[in-house]
Amino acid sequence: MDVYEAIYTTRAMRRLSPEPVPEELLPKLFDAAIRGPNSGNTQLFRFITVTDAAMKKQIQEIYRECLTELNATKYAGAQEKVNEGDPDDPDVAQTIKIDKSAQWLANNLDTAPMLIFVFGKEGGETTTFPCLWNLCLAARSEGLGTSITTLLKLQKQRVEDLMKMPRDSIWNMHAMIPIGFPTGKWGVPNRQPAEEAVFSESWGEPVGWSVPEPLWGYE
Ligand SMILES: Cc1cc2nc3c(=O)[nH]c(=O)nc-3n(C[C@H](O)[C@H](O)[C@H](O)COP(=O)(O)O)c2cc1C
Repeated sequence: MDVYEAIYTTRAMRRLSPEPVPEELLPKLFDAAIRGPNSGNTQLFRFITVTDAAMKKQIQEIYRECLTELNATKYAGAQEKVNEGDPDDPDVAQTIKIDKSAQWLANNLDTAPMLIFVFGKEGGETTTFPCLWNLCLAARSEGLGTSITTLLKLQKQRVEDLMKMPRDSIWNMHAMIPIGFPTGKWGVPNRQPAEEAVFSESWGEPVGWSVPEPLWGYE
């Protein structure tokens, strides 16, 4: 797969079929993951793959609790928009779409065939995230969907205990990635035009180019 196709179409793919991730793909995915850039080549990343149904169910229940907690606190504004906003307003419609997808994941996380946990040093996400993004891109090239999630960090100790991590370990859960074959279609994620995110030479100075439509897309 062309690198731009992988970049443009690797989006949060939360709805996954229960079909197992082929075992023979795992070495490819993780070997691609660990090629990522990392601070001083210290390679402070570890992964746990979880496929056990009972374990996935326990994780789903914790994940559900985390989202419910966040909906009542940090996401309270977004929840108000979802429940009381005008669905014809494009901004409200976008929030409703993301919320629906996020709620679906919280209620069905255990149906994903595999959950990949990513661990690193405290504050070491600058090392683990390039590697986990490599994993997501490699998965995309194999037709597998992924979504990066960090919600479980609200219950980090509970999850780490479930994973049987020693309490005195230097490792910390940084993310959890459900992975599997998507039930829906691949698409290019909606973003602000690139020129709105880039300045020229100094802060606030506009660039002399614009990208009204994504530069890669399906014909
Ligand atoms: C650091 C990070 C944490 C995230 N945590 C969650 C999460 O806990 N749950 C979730 O459903 N999505 C999570 N996401 C996915 C984002 O919601 C998603 O990337 C964003 O909505 C854009 O989606 P799109 O690429 O499909 O357009 C996370 C993404 C990142 C980069």
